[in-house]
Amino acid sequence: MIFEKPSLRTRLSFEAGMTQLGGHAIYLGPADIGLGTRESIADVAKVTSSMVDLIMARTFKHMSIVELAKHSTVPVINGLSDLEHPCQILADVMTIWEVYGKLEGLKIAYVGDCENNVTHSLALASALLGMDFVAAGPRGYHMDKKVVGQAKEILRLSGSSHRTRNAQDDKRALKSLARSSSASVKQVVDPKEAVNGADVVVTDTWVSMGDEAEKAKRLKLFKPYQVTPKLMALAHKQAIFLHCLPAYRGNEVTAAVIDGPQSLVFQEAENRLHVQKALMLWLVNKSAIKGR
Ligand code: CP
Ligand code: NVA
Repeated sequence: MIFEKPSLRTRLSFEAGMTQLGGHAIYLGPADIGLGTRESIADVAKVTSSMVDLIMARTFKHMSIVELAKHSTVPVINGLSDLEHPCQILADVMTIWEVYGKLEGLKIAYVGDCENNVTHSLALASALLGMDFVAAGPRGYHMDKKVVGQAKEILRLSGSSHRTRNAQDDKRALKSLARSSSASVKQVVDPKEAVNGADVVVTDTWVSMGDEAEKAKRLKLFKPYQVTPKLMALAHKQAIFLHCLPAYRGNEVTAAVIDGPQSLVFQEAENRLHVQKALMLWLVNKSAIKGR
């Protein structure tokens, strides 16, 4: 487990999860490796993958994880980069599934800093799983255009595969068309527009790790995007509130919401453990089959 940044949930869930599976996890903190400074990323990847079955990395630059994966002989898991936080979104999706028993057709609203790892992974997961995703944030802090392009491409491909099936099987095609018509990825400015009728409302810190120099500017700019009981009232009556944590009460969310009955943030945090155990097993089994 290579960490360039601090962590509570990611470290704990991977370490406890690996122990529960009968394995062992090794923590390498920011001072231990010096990814790309003490040693090249390629060399770190080659040495590390000669001794372990899986690598999990939390880095500043997304390209550091890509570079690790390029030179590693074992699977590399993104434990958060400046671009994406996929393990968090696996836990979010699991939590949504636990509540609704389905994913397709649900409306997910994200409010706040949209140029953010959590937003990007949520947009991609929504496209893959047939959810309707709307992100609201101020201009200048919108989702990365490349990520939105990727999400739209996923939607387009799932739409076209549905159409192919349409010719072969009317019943299946009807179901598929229902999915492709509800699934979308959208960026807006108005938080009310995003939250209106949503089944799930998500936010994240306004100052992600690495954004500290912009803290004062961000706290001012994002103020209209605070998730309050008034904003939550625009969502579906049974809507749930999610936040990857750590949370800053009084900034991106009020205490009334995050500590209120619609909030599932601790179930969401616990699900990191369960879903990542499944992920690790899946990856280890997959690479064992590949290695045979
Ligand atoms: N949500 C999350 O990734 O938390 P940590 O930064 O504590 O790992
Ligand atoms: N967007 C946040 C997530 C923290 C788990 C960050 O990158 O700091």
